Amino acid sequence: MPRRKIALIGAGNIGGTMAHLCALKGLGDVVLYDVIDGLPQGKALDLLQSAPIENFDAQITGTTKYEGIAGADVCIVTAGIVRKPGMSRDDLLGTNSKIMSQVAEGIKSYAPNALVIVITNPLDAMVTLVKRVTGFPKNRVVGQSGILDSSRYRTFIAQELKVSVASVSAVVLGGHGDDMVPVRSGCQLSGVPVEKFISSQRLDEIEARVRNAGGEIVALLKTGSAFYAPASAAVRMAQSYLMDKKEILPCAAYLEGEYGVKGYYFGVPVMIGAGGVEKVIEIELSPRERKLFEESLGHVKELVAAMDRVIKA
Ligand code: LAC
Repeated sequence: MPRRKIALIGAGNIGGTMAHLCALKGLGDVVLYDVIDGLPQGKALDLLQSAPIENFDAQITGTTKYEGIAGADVCIVTAGIVRKPGMSRDDLLGTNSKIMSQVAEGIKSYAPNALVIVITNPLDAMVTLVKRVTGFPKNRVVGQSGILDSSRYRTFIAQELKVSVASVSAVVLGGHGDDMVPVRSGCQLSGVPVEKFISSQRLDEIEARVRNAGGEIVALLKTGSAFYAPASAAVRMAQSYLMDKKEILPCAAYLEGEYGVKGYYFGVPVMIGAGGVEKVIEIELSPRERKLFEESLGHVKELVAAMDRVIKA
């Protein structure tokens, strides 16, 4: 069987890190695409030269042409500009909407059967746009957000309690914005509710940090945004698809009635397997979480309306 092909649209920090992770995990051949000539080719060559040391045989190539992604099994999209300190994800809407339309056309033409994972911000709007432009079914266009946000939640809880991250389970739902919803009622330490270990006031602080975790890194880096954890998150989704693992992972999925939401991408737990997004998992929310969920949904609706105005202008 030929190796699977993973196309990474955007060869910046997240793209380069994903290429490295895909190679180390043996997920398949990797093609890095970027509009900046030399960047994808240079990163690909550098990574390829680590193959004898890391003992992988995957081919890693770089290209500035969409032909290069032909026949990809998975396309992971990071193309676009990123935040500078003081910016919200929504401030990227104008520029990234234009870039995303072109990217989606390229994928539609050259990788018509791929699973598309979108990372570009503002995530909930960009994934909506990719679905519209490609016309792909909802099971094959999905956004990366919730795995990253949930991983941040788990990290902070594990740090607080000085326990292994493996013992902390948590999920963050909703839009990938400042009003995302950390589901406290579902956050557990080896099956025991986290509220038994951490006061509700301290949990408020931790959850506020989760919501601002991307911004905290932007403020530190000053010239870019987070990339190691976002790359890990998207590669985990790709792996579940390529290996048909059927992992339940929080992602931005297109909802048609689940959670009472119709016609919007929104962060919820989904099962990812060989069929792409195979199932949306509905979990119970406390009344407080449901209220936060609705607020976040309102924000996503506004964001999509703003995107529609940008596209028409
Ligand atoms: C973040 C960006 C990738 O949350 O959205 O860091």
